[in-house]
Amino acid sequence: MAQQKSLKDLKRSDLFQQKGYIAEEWVEAADGKTFNVYDPATLDKLATIPEMGREDTDKAIKAAHEAFQSYKKTTARQRARWLRKWSDLCLENAEDLALILCLENGKTLTEAKGEVTYAASFLEWFAGEAERTHGETVPVANLNQRILTFKQPLGVAACLAPWNFPIAMITRKCAAALAAGCTTVWNPAGETPLSCLAQAVLAQEAGFPKGTINVITTLNGVSEVGKALCESKLVRKLSFTGSTRVGQLLAAQCSHSLKKLSLELGGNSPFIVFDDAKLETAVEAAILAKFRNSGQTCVTANRVFVQEGIYDKFTQALSEKIKTLKVGPGTEEGVFVGPLTHERAVEKAMNHITDAKKHGGQVILGGSPYKGDGKLKGYFLEPTIISGMSKEAITTSEETFAPVVALYKFKTEEEVIDLANDCDVGLGSFLITESMPRMWRVAEALEVGMVGVNLGLLSACESPFGGVKMSGYGREGGRQGIDEYLSVKSMLINVAS
Ligand code: SIN
Repeated sequence: MAQQKSLKDLKRSDLFQQKGYIAEEWVEAADGKTFNVYDPATLDKLATIPEMGREDTDKAIKAAHEAFQSYKKTTARQRARWLRKWSDLCLENAEDLALILCLENGKTLTEAKGEVTYAASFLEWFAGEAERTHGETVPVANLNQRILTFKQPLGVAACLAPWNFPIAMITRKCAAALAAGCTTVWNPAGETPLSCLAQAVLAQEAGFPKGTINVITTLNGVSEVGKALCESKLVRKLSFTGSTRVGQLLAAQCSHSLKKLSLELGGNSPFIVFDDAKLETAVEAAILAKFRNSGQTCVTANRVFVQEGIYDKFTQALSEKIKTLKVGPGTEEGVFVGPLTHERAVEKAMNHITDAKKHGGQVILGGSPYKGDGKLKGYFLEPTIISGMSKEAITTSEETFAPVVALYKFKTEEEVIDLANDCDVGLGSFLITESMPRMWRVAEALEVGMVGVNLGLLSACESPFGGVKMSGYGREGGRQGIDEYLSVKSMLINVAS
């Protein structure tokens, strides 16, 4: 086997930080506790990180609150310059950031580079938006008055990032916050803190003032840190990407301080292939929608609905393509499907596969943990296709979050709309059709926040990202993203002589 890349290959060793970050200082946990971060491909230890708790979180909140008093008075242009500089630094250091991300998350180096570019795009996008937070003048009912509105930053924003896109989700949140004039406390997932810490190094280098960015690291103390952020009256905004269960908990904990929330929670995306679809487009889009980050995205194609007239052709073409996908460590050349990030993810996927079989599904490809030539120790799963999925299978109502394609056959447009909407969540969705009228009809009928047509990727900094129903509320990215960190103030002026 070729020599794999490791942290020793970083060009800038200072991007590899093993401490938390509060008020421009790299710090240990107040009680000195630590946890380890492991590479999910090899199970090798990568780093030892502070296990922070309430005391550290309170310090970070205080630092952010103090910084807010002067940061809110900076000009939008200045904030935009810092964001642009940070974006440039991200791209200049893309190889290092991608390597850190690949090692801690497991995604391939190619995908990790894509995520760095995606992360930088939010910095650049919100640099532009910083100067476009216009208020308005309002036509009045009382001619003795004039009414106008302006927007102001909310205050300290807590940004809770997930392990599946640790670099891009932190910039999607904090770029909007910093552009708006808020200061931030970041809480990266315990499995993947290293890429967030590297981002903090670059943000500091870009010139963001002391206390505007603080990073609290934790693995086992996540509920304590989350509670401290939720309960603090100094934190005026909390943005979370993760499971619906944790989102509900955070919303309940934030109810006392009534802070503004953005929740990007679980999905169960329908991927619908109609008889009139182009086969090549359908296969290409399905591969992207399903295998990006080894199926660990909130918008992954969880339920693949295929119309009966194209079902066999699509299944065969998809199987042929999937057979060619190389599985292995993300650092290895040519690998398309990396490991899952957690051991329990393989277990969960295996449970879904067993359950699907119990309900009549046929595993036509894969279906087992992947050990390669016997040397692979990490959390790998064979790319899997299950045909003939039944409505009763767990996958119908729960995200599998793994490289498992679950194929459901349907007859009519009405039937598939009902099937697609028959779930508690509504984040992403995909339609593959050559019919424009059908595209409109189905896109309007789906109970989701995002619809992709003839493609397999919903991610673009300029497009608002978010869901409906139990997938949460609020939008990230797009023109709407910055408003999540602003409040509108109205001013009524007496002009009577
Ligand atoms: C997610 O899976 O939560 C985010 C995916 C994306 O932004 O593309």
